[in-house]
Amino acid sequence: MDNYQYCARFAARAAEGRGEFTVLDYGCGAGAIVKALIEQGIDTRGCDVFYEGGDYSSSVPAEIANRIHRMEGDRIPFGDATFDLVLSNQVLEHVPDLDVVLGEIARILKPGGICLSLFPHRGVWREGHCNIPLLHRFPKGRARIYYAAALYPIGYYKNGKSRMQWARDFADWLDRWTYYRPYREIAATFAKHLSPPAHIENEWIVERKPIFRFAPRWLRNFIAWKMAGMVFVSRRLAGCDVVIPDAFARGSRSSKEPERDDESSRIHWALAC
Ligand SMILES: C[S@@+](CC[C@H](N)C(=O)[O-])C[C@H]1O[C@@H](n2cnc3c(N)ncnc32)[C@H](O)[C@@H]1O
Repeated sequence: MDNYQYCARFAARAAEGRGEFTVLDYGCGAGAIVKALIEQGIDTRGCDVFYEGGDYSSSVPAEIANRIHRMEGDRIPFGDATFDLVLSNQVLEHVPDLDVVLGEIARILKPGGICLSLFPHRGVWREGHCNIPLLHRFPKGRARIYYAAALYPIGYYKNGKSRMQWARDFADWLDRWTYYRPYREIAATFAKHLSPPAHIENEWIVERKPIFRFAPRWLRNFIAWKMAGMVFVSRRLAGCDVVIPDAFARGSRSSKEPERDDESSRIHWALAC
């Protein structure tokens, strides 16, 4: 299972038993998740700025083109309290102002609505766009270029470029188009606009690669956290929710979150409204 299938399955589960359920794929790219959900009969839209860092607008299939909305700046082109679920896959490390984006996502979510986010934090070991370990944490300069060039054989997206050209171009791309934020900053920004993150990397890694069912929980968490990044859920709080103000600790909880630290109860909490 890939991330598209994972997100589509998550959304389908969240929609189960709910008559009307609307989904927004924020930063939808070519719309693979939007298409999968529409095929399952789930009312889904996508939006994207289609940035120069990788514009997928020409790959959007014609049959879903009217479901994909081009954004102007950070404004999401929908009214307040429109969606039951907003998901984003590998998008939030590209947004220059996370605070503004999460304010917008909170605005267009219904009270009690869910936000599913998959993206890397600064602490990941593998730079996922080019596959070079820790490249996103190197200071700018020649050393970074030579380091990337040395690891060229394991890099992604070479497109026939020479070793040095590829290393230079990727370093430049990272500078222009990525914002690797520390986890504490991300968690605090989510907690400001939505509930604090409820982490589901354990469940995500097992669904993506069932062999991990046999790995200890700490190893699953470690691999997901260091090699891929975060998978978590937060909610636009409804009036009845009380949040314990511990936005800065990883896996912090609201008063509705279960005591038991098991994945199914976490997901149940995340989906319950
Ligand atoms: C790595 S691609 C992921 C695309 C899609 N989510 C997927 O999984 O295939 C990152 C996407 O984020 C979009 N993006 C970048 N900055 C954005 C912003 N500020 N608001 C909305 N989308 C943005 C890009 O246009 C691009 O489509």
